[in-house]
Amino acid sequence: MKRLITITSLFCLFFLFEQNLTAQNTFIAGKNQFELNGKPFLIRAAELHYPRIPKEYWEHRIQMCKAMGMNTICIYTFWNLHEQKEGVYDFSGQNDVAEFVRLIKKNGMYCIVRPGPYVCAEWDMGGLPWWLLKKEDIEVRTLKDPFFMKSATAYLNRVGKELSSLQIQNGGNIIMVQVENEYGVWGNDGDYMTKIRDIIRASGFDKVQLFRCDWSSNFDRYKVPGVAETLNFGAGSNIENQFKKFKTLNPDAPLMCSEYWTGWFDQWGRPHETRGVETFLGSLKDMMDNKISFSLYMAHGGTSFGQWSGANAPPYAPTVSSYDYDAPINEAGQPTEKFYAIRSLLQNYLNEGETIPPLPSEPSKFISLPEIAFTKKALLRDNLKNPKTTDVPKTMEYFDQGWGRILYRNKISADDSERILKIDDVHDYAVVYLNDKYLGKLDRRFNETSLKIPATKKDAQLDILVETTGRVNYGKAIIDRKGINGKVYLSKGAETKELHNWQIYNFPVDAAFQKDLKYGNLTGDGPAWYKSSFKLSETGDVYLDMRGWGKGMVWVNGHNLGRFWKIGPTQSMYLPGKWLNVGENEIIVFDVENHDKPVIKSVGTPVFEIIADASMLHRKEGEMLDLSDAVPVTSGSFTSETGWKEVKFKAVVKGRYFCLEALSSQLTSDNSTSIAELEILGEDGKAISALKWKVVFADSEEVTASGSSADKIFDLQESVIWQTRIGDKKAAFPHTVVIDMGENNTVSGFRILPRTDKSKNGIIKDYRFYLQEKKFNIKL
Ligand code: GLA
Repeated sequence: MKRLITITSLFCLFFLFEQNLTAQNTFIAGKNQFELNGKPFLIRAAELHYPRIPKEYWEHRIQMCKAMGMNTICIYTFWNLHEQKEGVYDFSGQNDVAEFVRLIKKNGMYCIVRPGPYVCAEWDMGGLPWWLLKKEDIEVRTLKDPFFMKSATAYLNRVGKELSSLQIQNGGNIIMVQVENEYGVWGNDGDYMTKIRDIIRASGFDKVQLFRCDWSSNFDRYKVPGVAETLNFGAGSNIENQFKKFKTLNPDAPLMCSEYWTGWFDQWGRPHETRGVETFLGSLKDMMDNKISFSLYMAHGGTSFGQWSGANAPPYAPTVSSYDYDAPINEAGQPTEKFYAIRSLLQNYLNEGETIPPLPSEPSKFISLPEIAFTKKALLRDNLKNPKTTDVPKTMEYFDQGWGRILYRNKISADDSERILKIDDVHDYAVVYLNDKYLGKLDRRFNETSLKIPATKKDAQLDILVETTGRVNYGKAIIDRKGINGKVYLSKGAETKELHNWQIYNFPVDAAFQKDLKYGNLTGDGPAWYKSSFKLSETGDVYLDMRGWGKGMVWVNGHNLGRFWKIGPTQSMYLPGKWLNVGENEIIVFDVENHDKPVIKSVGTPVFEIIADASMLHRKEGEMLDLSDAVPVTSGSFTSETGWKEVKFKAVVKGRYFCLEALSSQLTSDNSTSIAELEILGEDGKAISALKWKVVFADSEEVTASGSSADKIFDLQESVIWQTRIGDKKAAFPHTVVIDMGENNTVSGFRILPRTDKSKNGIIKDYRFYLQEKKFNIKL
């Protein structure tokens, strides 16, 4: 009897303990509010990416977020960072994400984890490993490809192993885990999303609240039971509009903006992106007033060191290495005006007894470097090792190389006339040489695929050096193999012949490879590595001033700082002080361009300068679009309501070129035009792919004050828009954009999304729409 009582009381004790634990450590998406341990909890999260911050600075950046008024840190985990070789995982050192989460806990903050497998994030291939591309018919983010699913499952299991013990229900600080990322932009397969949910649960995240994130325009494209829904949108958004449909479909759900974009990322050759403090703060205040939880994407962007920055497409637009993002905490971890504005706004919304701590002391001061002169150089052509051969050019992935450069070498026969070299698809930037003489470049951003080969008296050596500038991380172009995709031809008049029998040389990005080269003096032209060393008596953060250099990468003491490109907008590179040594330091720069006097100086603040590139504009000086002999398929007036608007034709029309002519604006006395997105509907009423689209003409584009060129209407990013030149007093209607879809399509109508921020400028009222098989008449 006594024994029975003891067992019963032990059981009761255990039950009480269990109950207590549950009562103490819970987080759920409750009725219209998140609940932490049974009490309402408003998430004020800051997004940080551990690989974009040197490990030595992790805690400082976390503390900065707390000092900005945040109670939670939101993170992605990056599959391709942790599994660089298939089946070999690395969660140590700089990749020790569990340590990062523990540091968050140590600083009294909660954590939201977004393990993917796809994460986007302006990160090479959106976090998917490049080796997936070795499978020729790979499909990603779908149940249809067992190899993708098997690999993704193995990775998610590994993340679970690292982090699931840190779920709040297990005594940790992880309050939510995200399933996939913005799947609504990609597809509507609820079964795939449900499977990813189950894999995440099975990986060990068995108790934590799950959620997913999408946009107000697409969150209802699919369903995943048991997973909370949140929305992402940008600085200056109209909060009421953003949540209108969401509230109707989810009347009991707590509201959260899971990515409130504090700024935006920069793309090579396009203006530096900023988002004004007032615009940003206004919508944040609206969210606080309406008790809407948020996560600031990014609170501190840091740097996409090495080869990690990705690209967008269409059109192909590679992201720069700096991920400063115009975020409240800048690339070097310093507070900006936006930081202080957020901090003082949030002071008004704290819970009883809650205070915002002071700013932590900086882990590293800023120093300036002595001018570094380079005296040693290793020409690429003198460092050709381990050639491989192939009949037709194969991609970089085929040769087991993830990133960097790849040289395709061939012999072409003598010919007394000029020929045209044509490459099917160059990913992403090729420089072409004949007998070591520079002939020209092929830049994927401009769909450049051919160049002239001069007459040669003797057989000549053809070199095509192709560089990767970031795998597409967003949309259907994500299957983005590097190097030469397809065939190479030489043509003369009507005669075209394919080139066979190539020699291949690989130049990966690992620091060890760059050291192990034959360095000599500075003589000789052509792509080369430059090496130097410098002595320091103290260390500290710096920006390297890369003005004067062409296009390449920089390694300091074995750390790959990322890419530089003279076209800007970023002309400087962040070098964390913790990667420098007191005493000797080594620096290696690879540049495809020549230098007589290669030097690098340091600067205390980042340099943004864009080399004016007229080719970013879709109208040549003096060009006029003549629509006098064109017949509109339809014309009409859009209502002033927000959101997507669909126009159906009376009957389907066939055509390759379309033109939207804006005749007036919703605002009186507004002579501008803006469009966020435009889709062309096929016979089945669904949007046709825009991957082959090119802007043929746009009468006016803002490419200086902001990156608002006409190709933004099909970049699939709703928060980025085409707008005609801001403040152009002479501008007048009509405003026109002409697109070449690359092939004839049978079209049943179109859809258009006006800008979604609070501004009403440029929202079209009256319009005409043209679609035809022949080109439009553009006169000079
Ligand atoms: C989306 C993605 C993020 C990031 C931002 C843009 O919201 O979810 O990963 O790419 O866009 O910076």
